[in-house]
Amino acid sequence: MPLIAVLAGDGIGPEVTAEARRVLEALGLDLTFEEAPVGGAGYLASGMPLPPDTLALAKRADAVLFGAIGDPRFDALERRLRPEAALLGLRRELGLFANIRPATLFPGLEDASPLKPEVVANLDIVIVRELTGDVYFGEKGHRTTLEGLRQGYDHMSYDEREVERIAIVGFEMAKRRRRKLCSVDKANVLETSQLWREVVNEVSVSYPEVALTHMYVDNAAMQLVRRPSEFDVIVTGNLFGDILSDQASMCAGSIGMLPSASLSDWSGANGMYEPIHGSAPDIAGTGKANPCAAILSAAMLLRHSLADEASAQRIEAAVKAAIASGARTADLGGTLSTREMGDAVLRELV
Ligand code: NAD
Ligand code: IPM
Ligand code: MN
Repeated sequence: MPLIAVLAGDGIGPEVTAEARRVLEALGLDLTFEEAPVGGAGYLASGMPLPPDTLALAKRADAVLFGAIGDPRFDALERRLRPEAALLGLRRELGLFANIRPATLFPGLEDASPLKPEVVANLDIVIVRELTGDVYFGEKGHRTTLEGLRQGYDHMSYDEREVERIAIVGFEMAKRRRRKLCSVDKANVLETSQLWREVVNEVSVSYPEVALTHMYVDNAAMQLVRRPSEFDVIVTGNLFGDILSDQASMCAGSIGMLPSASLSDWSGANGMYEPIHGSAPDIAGTGKANPCAAILSAAMLLRHSLADEASAQRIEAAVKAAIASGARTADLGGTLSTREMGDAVLRELV
């Protein structure tokens, strides 16, 4: 019986994860769930954001359903004790180098985006974000003092193996879709980006059926607002992917709509699934959070880690139908609570 580790985390994490779990349970599949604290909750429980038992559960499980971490109470702690360290630690320990972040506009949400309906119509993008390298994992992040001035260092780096494996994910994804891959970098300035571009070009030789383009990240940010539906698959580094995916979420109506899968290979073993949003301290505890991103992450879990495409599509169809029926949380301009939105999805589950 597949084991799902449920790491709900902080803020709205537990609120939205509860709805995702309800939907998974309603499918009537043979799943077992085991919960463990992570992030600020992990720190409170054991003095560590990623308690060893939580990491062990994540490794033992067939897949991880992750909520969100982050708590302003712990922002002043040293970096390794902050809630964010748990998420980065899980990604590193599970080898989750490929982060798949689909941004699709669900019919009916054209008006929820601040962009014009005709701009966001037909939005169907996948952002493939590299997740275990770049400036996030550079060895030398530290503070120092030079000539009486405080200085901070972060080290941006990629090696060719890291770029190659994420490029392959990008091409494979594009091959299965509209066969357009846009690689986003800053090769006009950064050495890491020049290497990135070189390696992506080398990998492209094996994918003649995929039309590859390169774009600088500043232009990509602009094009995502100008004509987002031009994109099919975007492959990019850790930092650029983080920023561009939050931006892309507003083309889809709300950050509360975007799920993600973090994978170490195509088998989906030990995959981790989470909304792209954070713990949203500003609305935590108010019941206003949109659980759709978490519910859609559960669908990605079934697809990638449990090879259950049919159940994944059942969930996605239910979310689509709920949205089409007018179900809306506050971020989408409606009045439903997190639980009521979960109910609306459950009603459409067939
Ligand atoms: P955030 O994503 O938590 O919130 C940004 C804004 O979007 C807020 O106004 C929030 O209310 C809104 N929002 C987010 N999710 C929503 C949802 N499901 N429904 C409705 N509204 C939603 O980003 P932030 O405020 O920059 O960060 C807050 C904390 O979360 C920080 O500690 C940060 O480090 C952490 N964080 C964690 C993750 C993660 O766990 N993967 C991701 C991003 C940020
Ligand atoms: C995300 C978050 C994380 C990131 C933070 C919380 C470490 O923003 O999952 O998108 O930057 O990757
Ligand atoms: Mn982010």
